[in-house]
Amino acid sequence: MKTIFVTGGAGFIGSNFIFHMRSAHPEYRIVCLDKLTYAGNISTLKDIMEDENFRFCRVDICNRDAVNRLFDEERPDIVVNFAAESHVDRSIEDPSVFLQTNIMGTGVLMDACRSHGNVRFHQVSTDEVYGDLPLDRPDLFFTEETPIHTSSPYSSSKAGADLLVLAYYRTYGLPVTISRCSNNYGPYHFPEKLIPLMIINALNDKPLPVYGEGLNVRDWLYVEDHCRAIDLIIHKGRLGEVYNVGGHNEMRNIDIVKLIVHALGKSEELITYVTDRKGHDLRYAIDPAKIHAELGWLPETKFAYGIQKTIQWYLTHQDWWEPIVSGDYMNYYEQMYGDRLGHSGR
Ligand code: NAD
Ligand code: DAU
Repeated sequence: MKTIFVTGGAGFIGSNFIFHMRSAHPEYRIVCLDKLTYAGNISTLKDIMEDENFRFCRVDICNRDAVNRLFDEERPDIVVNFAAESHVDRSIEDPSVFLQTNIMGTGVLMDACRSHGNVRFHQVSTDEVYGDLPLDRPDLFFTEETPIHTSSPYSSSKAGADLLVLAYYRTYGLPVTISRCSNNYGPYHFPEKLIPLMIINALNDKPLPVYGEGLNVRDWLYVEDHCRAIDLIIHKGRLGEVYNVGGHNEMRNIDIVKLIVHALGKSEELITYVTDRKGHDLRYAIDPAKIHAELGWLPETKFAYGIQKTIQWYLTHQDWWEPIVSGDYMNYYEQMYGDRLGHSGR
């Protein structure tokens, strides 16, 4: 049996990856390390909490001693690092925690990998490290050779981490890979991000805040497709390599918001144009040719289907997002798991 560490597994993509791994590789022992910041929600993992091949540990990846202790106890074969501060707008308000978690935390994890037998390390990165593309050049895409050219403190911190990961490969021979994915959507997406925010606000007949004129373009990928890509990379990817992940599904923000409004039978009058994000990236667009050619990866979920499935998920999982909107979810961990996990961490 192999043991995989999934950091940030109480967040959006990390939790979906845990569910993916449980069904695709039931032979794995999965250990989730998560600090449970505002973005981490332990209730997301409630169905897997009692599995004997699963362990949740409330750990800050920047805490070297705690991370090393867990490596000593569990002796992981693979570490997949999702843990990060992930919201661009928050990074513009206060960059410091982004530098701490996204760069320093990645360094702590890789040091633990080095000192525990050169453990295989995968860094979950983002297309935002490439900066943006102009709106009037639909022929341009991000390839793995596109220079790093960041816009926000968030993307700069992710780029810093990527450089560190590649340096650990070259300098220490740590077995690493990096995936740079486009915008994900799907279940358990925290409602500060565009798609879940718009769904929930529309359901509550609240204004839908569109930045600028809503003409910025993002390249949307259903989260399960991202999880399958990471699964392939950690098992078959070439060490020291970067893989871009995206599904050629570019949409303008305003078109996504209108689609959600119509799907929920609401009025476009809810749409409210607000002051633009500072340094707002215009367009992201991934060229996924390398991961397709080398690993045979292709996206499976068409956006038209995935977005309806996602809207349906939010309609039927108010019990998940209402406590987030009200703030109650922050107490859930202490109520449900405080005593049980307090001593052994198991
Ligand atoms: P998220 O904000 O939903 O989840 C982040 C998780 O990390 C949370 O559970 C949080 O508690 C945990 N965390 C934060 N700081 C921590 C720390 N110091 N120690 C331990 N845990 C900590 O993020 P997400 O959208 O699921 O993104 C996951 C990863 O994927 C991030 O690295 C992000 O940069 C990357 N990514 C996201 C997208 C996207 O569209 N969401 C696209 C490409 C790449
Ligand atoms: O491209 C990958 C990145 O996608 C990830 O690395 C980030 O972690 C993830 O948060 C996401 O970043 P974006 O900034 O693209 O996502 P966000 O959902 O914040 O915004 C999507 C677009 O919608 C962006 O152009 C800003 C706009 N927007 C966003 C919000 C929250 C609005 O117009 N109104 C809003 O209220």
